Amino acid sequence: MIKYLQHKFALSREGAKDMIKACISVTVTNITFMMTAGILYLLISDMLDGGLTTDRLPIYIGGSVGVLILIWIANYIQYNATFLTTYRESGVRRTTLAEKLRKLPLSFFGKKDLSDLTTTIMSDCAMIETASSHWIPELIGALFSTGLVGISLFIFFDWRIVLASFWVIPASFLLIFASSKAQKNAVRKNNRVKMELADGIQEALESVRDLRANNAQDRYMCGLDVKIKNVEKYALFTELKLAVFVNTAAIILKMGIATTALVGGALFATGEITLLTFFMFLMLVSRLYDPMNITLQNFAAIIASTVQCERLDEVLSHDIQTGAEKMTNSGYDIRFDHVSFSYSDDTAVLKDVSFTAKQGEVTALIGPSGGGKTTVSRLAARFWDTTGGKITLGGMDISKVDPETLFSAFSIVFQDVTLFNQTVMENIRIGKKGATDEEVIQAAKLANCDEFVSKLPDGYNTMIGENGSELSGGERQRISIARAFLKDAPVILLDEATASLDVENETAIQQALSALIRNKTVLIIAHRMRTVAGANKIVVLSDGVVAEQGTPDELLAKNGIFAQMARLQSEGQNWAIA
Ligand SMILES: Nc1ncnc2c1ncn2[C@@H]1O[C@H](COP(=O)(O)OP(=O)(O)OP(=O)(O)O)[C@@H](O)[C@H]1O
Ligand SMILES: [Mg+2]
Repeated sequence: MIKYLQHKFALSREGAKDMIKACISVTVTNITFMMTAGILYLLISDMLDGGLTTDRLPIYIGGSVGVLILIWIANYIQYNATFLTTYRESGVRRTTLAEKLRKLPLSFFGKKDLSDLTTTIMSDCAMIETASSHWIPELIGALFSTGLVGISLFIFFDWRIVLASFWVIPASFLLIFASSKAQKNAVRKNNRVKMELADGIQEALESVRDLRANNAQDRYMCGLDVKIKNVEKYALFTELKLAVFVNTAAIILKMGIATTALVGGALFATGEITLLTFFMFLMLVSRLYDPMNITLQNFAAIIASTVQCERLDEVLSHDIQTGAEKMTNSGYDIRFDHVSFSYSDDTAVLKDVSFTAKQGEVTALIGPSGGGKTTVSRLAARFWDTTGGKITLGGMDISKVDPETLFSAFSIVFQDVTLFNQTVMENIRIGKKGATDEEVIQAAKLANCDEFVSKLPDGYNTMIGENGSELSGGERQRISIARAFLKDAPVILLDEATASLDVENETAIQQALSALIRNKTVLIIAHRMRTVAGANKIVVLSDGVVAEQGTPDELLAKNGIFAQMARLQSEGQNWAIA
């Protein structure tokens, strides 16, 4: 039961237990409320019968006080189990989600949009919170207490009048239940168009520079307009669809007043029920249907919220990359053994790639754009898992090592540098947790950051804007290199690490890198031939296969792709207007 609730409503174990507690306490509260009406009924019928004696009065007073105390206790438990739990559970759920996201393979993020995930973390979670803490316990409590009252009325009163007043409840709920598929479809569709709009807005904000450069703003805004109109249309459509079901169910519920009056009147006329009973049932239905109406709306909202639960559960139940937390490697040679890989199912990006990058050597990956170089470096650090073949680090199969443990052996400088809206100091310190300011500055000096940092208004304590927006491409890259210097891990992956540097800076950094890479395994990706000329080994990747590999001299002698690339670059090319 607890497991089922956990899965169904994306709850923690504690949350599921609290939900059961909340359901019980709502049931108890509802029943105790109804008991007051029962006591009143008994009191009036005693009075009418003339049987109310002074010795029975204390029983009624005692009973009323007892019921009041019970209401107070049940309310207290309900408050604890709903409101307080909501806040606790919302914290737990978001932390679980964040923890899960941290462990999910990058392939998962490739398939998901950022705005989709943000929506899951923020609004899906909020909706599930309200559903699990309020709507569901209220619904279950209302159904149980109404069911119990219904059964006891069946026992004590004429079954015909009970049936006349209660038949509408299952009928209206059945209608909502039967339409749940249609409701969910409407909500899913509504979600999808909302997500498309969120994506569109995010993309517009991120690419405002390129849109302006290409005079494409108007065209793009037209596209956004269509998306906004779509959201309007579907929001209205979804509301209408839900309203049709909920209102029809409410009308069915109201029909109960008519049937109670008709059946009750007939039974009273034939003397089968007393006037008091007739009135009591009329009172009961008019009191009962209003909260039931709210419960019906809750029920519809719960059905809609299961769509959100499905989305959350999709994240929570996704397989994570796991593995041993202890490395068993000997040395740090990286070996690709008949590796194949594809980002999606249909197109193979790497096909049967085999090569070894030895420790103490620089291995350069070169080849035409889109050949798979970045992919190779990502696979080496287990950002993705291979689809075929095996990658080993010092003889240890990396697919059997926990990614976080494995990352500790890698210093990586990516092709696209990510910086945080923090100071320069903190941005470099990401390379090594707990590094001292002196260590950070030392690394920054090695990466030639010192020169531009000293020109910043606050030096190392200058904030660099969102994703380093206040820095140039070369400056960003140098910060990324400084991180690698600071981390000083045994394996170094450099993807176009020096591509946006001027020749002077590149030479200086290369000299510093030579000190860093001593006795390490270095995998370097570069387009400039002068960057890779000093490598011990060259691997040429073209169309996802290893076209050539060997020392630069061997490959030059072979006169293949490498030799041709080297020739083209050394010839130099001048712009010519044709
Ligand atoms: N995240 C991704 N999802 C799907 N396909 C991808 C992804 N990243 C790269 N690809 C595809 O994989 C192929 C190889 O890309 P990769 O980035 O490895 O090339 P590359 O050799 O590094 O190119 P470049 O020199 O331009 O950086 C390309 O066809 C690219 O479209
Ligand atoms: Mg690349």
